[in-house]
Amino acid sequence: MKFSVTTNDAISARCDCLVIAVHDNGRLSACASKADRASKGLVTRLLKQKDISAKPGSTLMVPAPQEMAASRLLLVGLGDKPDVDDFAAAAAAAARSLCRSPTRKAVITLAEIAVANCDPRARARLVVEALAVAAYRFDQLKSSNNKNDKSGLVRVTLTARTTAATAARRGVGEAQAIANGVHLARDLGNLPGNICTPSYLARRARQLGRSHGLRVSVLDEARMKALKMGALLSVSRGSREPARLIVMEHRGGKRGEAPVVLVGKGLTFDAGGISLKPAASMDEMKYDMCGGASVFGALLAAAELKLPLNVVGIVPSSENLPDGAANKPGDIVTSMSGKTIEILNTDAEGRLILCDALSYAERYKPDTVIDIATLTGACVIALGQPATGLFVNQDGLAKELLSAGDEARDRAWQLPLWKTYQKQLKSPFADIGNIGGRSAGAITAACFLSRFTEGMRWAHLDIAGTAWKSGAGKGATGRPVPLLCRFLINRAGAR
Ligand code: BES
Ligand code: MN
Ligand code: ZN
Repeated sequence: MKFSVTTNDAISARCDCLVIAVHDNGRLSACASKADRASKGLVTRLLKQKDISAKPGSTLMVPAPQEMAASRLLLVGLGDKPDVDDFAAAAAAAARSLCRSPTRKAVITLAEIAVANCDPRARARLVVEALAVAAYRFDQLKSSNNKNDKSGLVRVTLTARTTAATAARRGVGEAQAIANGVHLARDLGNLPGNICTPSYLARRARQLGRSHGLRVSVLDEARMKALKMGALLSVSRGSREPARLIVMEHRGGKRGEAPVVLVGKGLTFDAGGISLKPAASMDEMKYDMCGGASVFGALLAAAELKLPLNVVGIVPSSENLPDGAANKPGDIVTSMSGKTIEILNTDAEGRLILCDALSYAERYKPDTVIDIATLTGACVIALGQPATGLFVNQDGLAKELLSAGDEARDRAWQLPLWKTYQKQLKSPFADIGNIGGRSAGAITAACFLSRFTEGMRWAHLDIAGTAWKSGAGKGATGRPVPLLCRFLINRAGAR
């Protein structure tokens, strides 16, 4: 799908579908009233007949009258005084309708409409994001006669007032890069565990390096052993697929400038190990690499946007399976940091691979480290699907991430990292246990990680509830790529 911005008159545009907004109480947007005139009152008539309501999110596609250059009109309800939520709902509904129709070339006027607290750049971004989400399909593993209907949309033109065109173009560019990152994260997440293995992720990283100018290196198990990554290696020992530690670097900032390091959990399948998970929905544990996938997505977007920042992505990747060589409850391993860990539950494996990756991150002398992980079922219970769990050891960073999430409509909510929770991790035999009991499970998991990030400006994002959807529309969401991208863009802009 190709996007562009024009300041030309939309009404005379030759296209398969012209998208215009209608408001409550018969008021027509500037475009709608032009279209109304051009169509001898068709728009007013449709509203009057209640063929379309002006509720945000309602849509009606009709053949355009002969007088117009467009073949179809898509009317989109936008309420009375639309806020950002109304606008996003309208954009999403318009995008769905367009993607279901035979439209190949669309002209969309929605971004011209004034929205409270939402500038032309943000409006353009929302329209592009909505289209990217609606057009996404994952059918690469279906044979050709079973593929889902692909959207035919190939060219989308957004109209903008002359004074807003530059801002709208920036919004389109940003949204396209972010959408590409989201798309990559969703594809990697949706791939099954027998295809998307640690070595597969490493290959994809190398490809990304070649196509987008990232510096990529991959550590194999021998290197990890030399680095004494005993926690990470103890997890992969129970699997036939060798672990990988993938490092991708975007060097857009000054030489020597301290990087932002993103560390993503890349568990390509989590059966729980000897503490085996129940069978129901175990297939969903192929998504346990979505934190890693979001690091791929964020680095892709950073590279496409040529952000003037140094960003390092680290993805520790392994499977967690039961096997004769697997971790057993009670086993004690030594992490790269030197801390010993008593593994009381082999299903709390994410923190085991992450702690060594976080220790490895230290060598980049990071300005900020953010880890992203489908870490705990407890976080799903606490926050559900709307919000990612956020844990931070520095207030300024919490603010930056929370507002990045708000701006990107990919929200996070902060949970406490108070010292009092740390005692739940006490072990009688090792420096630390890998679980903290039933209560406050998302918090004690974060506490565990905090023991390996002392001295770094660090945040942990628990995306167990946000990275994928269950049920009929099952699939990876690409979250929190939008949040991460907004965080990076804001940082790049701040300097
Ligand atoms: N990958 C899971 C977390 C998870 C569970 C994500 C359900 C999404 C949905 C993680 O490795 C895990 O198994 N965590 C355990 C930790 C427990 C043993 C302390 C959990 O949450 O049950
Ligand atoms: Mn697990
Ligand atoms: Zn896991």
